[in-house]
Amino acid sequence: MSFVLPTYARAPITMAKGEGSYLYDTEGKVYVDFCAGIATCSLGHCHPAQVEAISRQAGTLMHCSNLYGIEQQELLAKRIVEDVIALPGKVFFSNSGAESNDGIIKTARRFGHRRPMSNGQPRYEVISFKQSFHGRTLGAMAATGQEKIQQEFSPLLEGFRYAIYNNIESLRSSITEKTCGILLEPVQGEGGVYAATPEFLRAAAELCREHDLLLMIDEVQCGFGRCGTMMGWQSIAPEIKPDLISCAKGLGGGFPIGCFWIGDRATDEAGNPLYSIMDAGSHGSTFGGNPLACAAALAVIEQIVSQNLPARAAVISERIKQEIMSWQLLPIQGIRGEGLLLGVALKPASFELPAGSLPSVYLNNLCREAGLLCCPAGPDTLRIIPALTISDETLREGLAILRCVISEL
Ligand SMILES: Cc1ncc(COP(=O)(O)O)c(C=O)c1O
Repeated sequence: MSFVLPTYARAPITMAKGEGSYLYDTEGKVYVDFCAGIATCSLGHCHPAQVEAISRQAGTLMHCSNLYGIEQQELLAKRIVEDVIALPGKVFFSNSGAESNDGIIKTARRFGHRRPMSNGQPRYEVISFKQSFHGRTLGAMAATGQEKIQQEFSPLLEGFRYAIYNNIESLRSSITEKTCGILLEPVQGEGGVYAATPEFLRAAAELCREHDLLLMIDEVQCGFGRCGTMMGWQSIAPEIKPDLISCAKGLGGGFPIGCFWIGDRATDEAGNPLYSIMDAGSHGSTFGGNPLACAAALAVIEQIVSQNLPARAAVISERIKQEIMSWQLLPIQGIRGEGLLLGVALKPASFELPAGSLPSVYLNNLCREAGLLCCPAGPDTLRIIPALTISDETLREGLAILRCVISEL
């Protein structure tokens, strides 16, 4: 009997060891890893530079609290602002994606207090999107536009409206006097791998300017090179300027760390920057940005920048897309996504499914049994989200398994 709460429908295997883009279970079976801890292990498993950085920091100082200065946190924030987001701003460190989203939702609410409605009441509504995913905390869950995630947890945190993704009219008509921000994923990952169109991102940025709203980008899954650029929005409409960005996953390469970034747009008559509204006492986290987590993330960013991994992700992405489409297999409808956040869209009617199973979950299970780890996204899409460092050889090996499994459907 397991004492772990069964909130995950887990595969009947247990992982024992990871190395690069391979995972080994406790029975010694080896898997090609196209899942990377759900788009998290940017450098693959146990990258020597990250192992070394974590080991060194663990023997020096793991945790001291945010009551004191933390050198690694300063260094990491500087790298994120200058080398990753490349827009002026400041960073708060959290421990996960959901927490980072809670942080930007809090910031948007504070902004709504500082810049209220015409009747003086604070603005507090955030527009997010149907089929979005922002995490499982009360705030992030309420922002998530999927009923199945919210079932039986009502009353939800109020103040969210769900517009239709990639539909400018739906977004425009969702704006009210109470709106203070628009929250979106550059590519909806969990919702089925749907990328925003450049027109949609530009329209969202324009509506934010027009209505004095904050443009809030959830880069938890897309960020840190995954989409073929440092941040996901940069691969779609690089000219837009977000006000708030949430991150996690790829930042820590498997070590739990998240962050949110606040830009410097002028927020009051005196021209004070947006980030100044989150002042001392406004937010906090005991663990957030501790020396160990920051050392782990610094090692990841160093590799992403020095090896130009976003560019590699873009190149491999094209290779995967071309290879999969060249198979011309009946169950494959197409392939979507940006960089190494890819979704193989399935034609459900083209193969036989066991009663009650979803096409994406069924195919994912078959792949796993054949030695390839992927991840379902929505009912009909198989997600391919490998490490940014995956070798050409391992990629070929994984694609060969995928081709074989889909051919036999
Ligand atoms: C876009 C997005 N936002 C937020 C989250 C939540 O992140 P976490 O599970 O670290 O809380 C996820 C997780 O899949 C995600 O894909």
